[in-house]
Amino acid sequence: MTETTAFYELNVNGSRREVRDSWIGESLLYVLRERLGLMGSKGACEQGECGSCTVMLDGDAVCSCLVLSASAVGSEILTVEGLAPNGEPSDVQRAFVDQGAVQCGFCTPGLIVAVHHLLDNNPDPTMIEVKEALSGNICRCTGYGRIFAAVETVVAVRKGARS
Ligand code: FES
Ligand code: FES
Repeated sequence: MTETTAFYELNVNGSRREVRDSWIGESLLYVLRERLGLMGSKGACEQGECGSCTVMLDGDAVCSCLVLSASAVGSEILTVEGLAPNGEPSDVQRAFVDQGAVQCGFCTPGLIVAVHHLLDNNPDPTMIEVKEALSGNICRCTGYGRIFAAVETVVAVRKGARS
């Protein structure tokens, strides 16, 4: 049996977005991409294994493929698009580009969200903490060195701005 919801609203990147006639079992990843047109979050494993679909849900980094969309009603959802309002890249996005941490780019949106989440909660992480925080985000291209260099760059620039 296919059960559909008439309509519900999600708070995405600071805006209220209507979701209409959706199947109750749709994942947040599916709704973001296919119903709301936010294609930044990527779907690969759809089993919580790769991190390409990472978004923030009430400030927590989550795999949106594992979240039932309708269960996110009333939560604040932040996607990679919300980190670059008006198309201006965030410092993390800029550092990824400058450090050559983007190759095929498939993992990049999830990593960008995960790095923002890490640095929001731990502005000066050790390398072990960086590796641990990003361990759920699989990158098959870069070997991670350039990704870690990008994180170090952001930490250094933010520290400089604070001092
Ligand atoms: S698509 Fe969600 S973790 Fe892989
Ligand atoms: S840049 Fe290709 S998977 Fe990470």
